[in-house]
Amino acid sequence: MLKSKKPLIAGNWKMNKNLEEISKFVDVFLKSGVENNKKDVLICPSYLHIEFLIKKLKPYGVKIGAQNCHFREKGPFTGEVSAPMFKEIGVDYVMVGHSECRTLRNESNENINLKLLNVLKNTMHVVLCVGETLEERKNFRALDIILNQIMIGLNNVKNFDEVFIAYEPVWAIGSGKLPDLEDIKNIMKNIRDFVRKKYGIRAADEIGILYGGSVDSCNSSKILSIKNVDGLLVGSASLNIKEFIKIIKS
Ligand code: PGA
Repeated sequence: MLKSKKPLIAGNWKMNKNLEEISKFVDVFLKSGVENNKKDVLICPSYLHIEFLIKKLKPYGVKIGAQNCHFREKGPFTGEVSAPMFKEIGVDYVMVGHSECRTLRNESNENINLKLLNVLKNTMHVVLCVGETLEERKNFRALDIILNQIMIGLNNVKNFDEVFIAYEPVWAIGSGKLPDLEDIKNIMKNIRDFVRKKYGIRAADEIGILYGGSVDSCNSSKILSIKNVDGLLVGSASLNIKEFIKIIKS
């Protein structure tokens, strides 16, 4: 399952939208014709709504993803869902290491690595989210933190064609604050260089790097034009169908 080389626009809906709202979203989305755009579109709804969206949008080429998964394949883990369970119902992508999961669920880089390996083993694409807090940035530790998250997160990965890294500064998520474009450019270059040095030219070429954190229709095309940006991970703005369509068209 090779990754397409089109830019990826991913919507992370978090714990938002009920079935009625999702149905309306789907109607407007399909009427807009945006699924034929020159970008890949990924939507990550709540676990409960994954099958509904797979039925409605997957036939039109839209990828449907999960926002997290457990690091084991099965067992006594009440309330959890595993990678093979997602695969079985037709999920294409799984996000791991989102900052909200790292914080609220106390997830370690080592656990996130196990999740990532599980997703790849079950032949889905994985989006590894990384990013520094404001305090880490103020202490000039941003790059160290990000590269450490990537180093541990990608441990034992052999094939990078199904792997995306999403750089999301924690302080930019849901805050309306965007790093300077030069900053994004610099971090993206450092991520690509790190993958090249550690895993080789082919890995650096195959891996996709996304930017996330306060992306909207006003800044999306500027961010997409930055070198080494292969797509966007969009939170709040992906909930609004008009905004999301504008971002996909940007
Ligand atoms: P935001 O969220 O676009 O609302 O900042 C991004 C994310 O959490 O993935």
